[in-house]
Amino acid sequence: MKLQHKVTCFYCNKIQAHDFDYPPREGKFTTDETALRCAIHSQFQCSSCKKFHHFSWLYWCEKEQKLICGTCNSPTLKPVSFWGTTYTYCFQCSDCQNEHNDLYYSEFQGTHPWQTKKKRYTKAIINQVDEEENWIPREYREGKSIQLEEALTIPDFALAIRKEKTTVKFHSPLINQEEVNQVEVQNQWELNSSQWIKIVNEISKDDRGDLNRQLIIDPSMWELIGEVKGLRVLDAGCGNGYFSRALAQKGAKVTGVDQSRVFIDYCEKVEQEKKQGIQYLAESMENLNAIDNESYDLIISNIVFIDVLHYRKALIELARVLKPAGRFIWSNLHPVFGRISSIFYRIPMDTPRNEERLYVMIDRYFDSGGTKISWGSMEPIWQFDRTLSEYTSALKEAGFVICEIVEPKPNKDDIKRHPRHLAFDADRIPFFIIYECQKAG
Ligand SMILES: C[S@@+](CC[C@H](N)C(=O)[O-])C[C@H]1O[C@@H](n2cnc3c(N)ncnc32)[C@H](O)[C@@H]1O
Ligand SMILES: [Zn+2]
Ligand SMILES: [Zn+2]
Ligand SMILES: [Zn+2]
Repeated sequence: MKLQHKVTCFYCNKIQAHDFDYPPREGKFTTDETALRCAIHSQFQCSSCKKFHHFSWLYWCEKEQKLICGTCNSPTLKPVSFWGTTYTYCFQCSDCQNEHNDLYYSEFQGTHPWQTKKKRYTKAIINQVDEEENWIPREYREGKSIQLEEALTIPDFALAIRKEKTTVKFHSPLINQEEVNQVEVQNQWELNSSQWIKIVNEISKDDRGDLNRQLIIDPSMWELIGEVKGLRVLDAGCGNGYFSRALAQKGAKVTGVDQSRVFIDYCEKVEQEKKQGIQYLAESMENLNAIDNESYDLIISNIVFIDVLHYRKALIELARVLKPAGRFIWSNLHPVFGRISSIFYRIPMDTPRNEERLYVMIDRYFDSGGTKISWGSMEPIWQFDRTLSEYTSALKEAGFVICEIVEPKPNKDDIKRHPRHLAFDADRIPFFIIYECQKAG
């Protein structure tokens, strides 16, 4: 018997729930098997970068007869309620200088080119669903017996999806951190440092770090840090040194330490140009040989431990150089939601609209270790996932007491100013965590 399966388009159905007269078309296309879609709701090729994109990540310029994607011309969000959504992507056209809305809202307005003219741009993609598929039950076969251990090793489902669907590149599997080599960890950061300096300087002309730092992490860091005037402060894993400079600006006596020579050379160059009295050290915080016991009133460390291989040793070393009752305030990727494998799951997976993300997928949370990955155009680096309890027990072992844990989230004004970066994102789930600790005794 042949089963007929005609499925209507995921988006047409969604629209019909808000617009009773809307006729759902057949779902013939799919990008990832999570949702079948009709031609108008599938992907189209951008006239500029030639890549295929989700229909709501594109606009049509009637004058130039061009279809342009949101990666080639970055949009803002225009709040407008239609078909159960709350905004449209709004593009300032670089060709005709007019404003254009994405194809989704254009369709709602009746200005989608397919509504006004006949099909005249690029053909819709993708894996045409085979309607003739034969649904005959598999033959019964006998499984072979296996050991319980083998039966219990299921793969990390979230990781598999992240590998397949995002721009994060994976260069190694998850490896027990004892097997990761410290020299390589350091060398990879050396390779990354100049690129990092360049990217962050482009994002922040006023030396305030990337957007996550500016809008999510640092406001909470500063709130916990409070007054620093006259204090001796260590910035552990200072990177390009922007946080050291901000501390010095507020009157602290600052030392920045980082394992990467490239970073420290850059920091020293900036210090030469704009003298703030900051000292820099190119050392691993696992071995701060140049620093005496009980030297600092405060240690801060901003998004560093995800990159530190021997984190227990580093914490013990930091406790050593901190004065009794001194504070240690540090941020990190959230051990649950900021895991390397965690991913915001969407249906369909190519939707650029954050509010269509369903939930964050976390799997195999207890699998700690290092993974060699690269973000976007960056060089590969080693990053380490550890559980919340591994970090808290390491803090205890090093002699720290946790005074407060903050899960920072962006404020409403910043979300309004940077909706593309913040809306329906870090206001839903904490990707970062900040610990305020104190040296016991
Ligand atoms: C994500 S970057 C953050 C840099 C800086 N704190 C910031 O917020 O921009 C992590 C930094 O940790 C440094 N790092 C990693 N392991 C380290 C170690 N064992 N000792 C010192 N620095 C280390 C890296 O070289 C890198 O500069
Ligand atoms: Zn449709
Ligand atoms: Zn494009
Ligand atoms: Zn235009």
